[in-house]
Amino acid sequence: MGVRKYLAAMMVISVCMQFFCACGKQQADMPQKIQVGVTFYNQSDIFLNELIACLKQQLGLLESDRLEITMMVRDAAGSQRTQDDQVEELIAMGCNVLCVNLVDRADPSEIIDLARENDVPIIFFNREPVAEDMQQWDGLYYVGADASQPGALQGELAAEMIQKDDWIDRDKDGKIQYVVLEGEPGHQDAIFRTENAVDTLKRSGIELEKLGSGIANWDRAQAQNRMLQMIGQYPNQIELVLANNDAMALGAIDAYEKLNYTESAFPVFFGIDGTEAGLKAVIDSKLSGTVYNDKEGQAAAMAKLAAALVTEDGMDSLEFENDKYIYLSYFKITDDNIKNFLP
Ligand code: BGC
Repeated sequence: MGVRKYLAAMMVISVCMQFFCACGKQQADMPQKIQVGVTFYNQSDIFLNELIACLKQQLGLLESDRLEITMMVRDAAGSQRTQDDQVEELIAMGCNVLCVNLVDRADPSEIIDLARENDVPIIFFNREPVAEDMQQWDGLYYVGADASQPGALQGELAAEMIQKDDWIDRDKDGKIQYVVLEGEPGHQDAIFRTENAVDTLKRSGIELEKLGSGIANWDRAQAQNRMLQMIGQYPNQIELVLANNDAMALGAIDAYEKLNYTESAFPVFFGIDGTEAGLKAVIDSKLSGTVYNDKEGQAAAMAKLAAALVTEDGMDSLEFENDKYIYLSYFKITDDNIKNFLP
């Protein structure tokens, strides 16, 4: 090769090198992208809407020059089939981490297969898959609240009030006639909440008589209907309503209001969650008490975990149980501390 050709070739190589270096530099300066795909079992669920709003906020707080975060949300409208398709779609759209609130907590296999094939980790939340399914792959995590706690805390709140205010035992028979409004059958929270609340009341020395119970699937309107049926059967006998969540406690209050009962003839109502409407009802003295389901804490843990899984940095700052689970605690809400929970 002549000198001129040699020099020309060197110049081309040098220009190319500069070009590639520049590209590399630009890559290094570009923020890392976290694309979070969220799918949840049903958009009519009040607590989940509030939890997902918190997740959006928490992810926003993690954004920086180095991290660009987007979140895409899908409503599975109560169908596991739809949710499986949504996971496929979210992965195809480029999500590199998924947050899944299962429709059917016993049926996550298709979702797990899709995630594993594409190497996209999953954070299940609020509706806990069974332990064997969580072992299917090491890219699976769960963030939720400790299901064993809130029933006992609700029982303590009710026991304290019954011991203090003897008007609650309206017929003065020394027993508290009660009904229960239960969440979805098979949900880890519904299973424990009723059982633990009743046990705690009994252990506190309260004599109880159960008049009835109704499944209202966490839903205010369904709870109102169940309650109307129970009031039809026991028009003045119900003294205490234990509801597995605030939405159903509010549905029970709706039923008494619909029938034009005077407030002095209402039983006392207890919920769980501390949703915006639930807290307002406590402030208005319609709801005697509720237990806080720490949506901010759960959302913060999910956001940190999502970021850590994508960036491979920060896993050490998270506290896991059995390497995969993060459980947040519940809190009793009383007149003294309610201000701390208001938005
Ligand atoms: C909440 C309910 C909610 C349910 C949905 C529970 O932990 O307390 O309000 O409807 O989760 O899965």
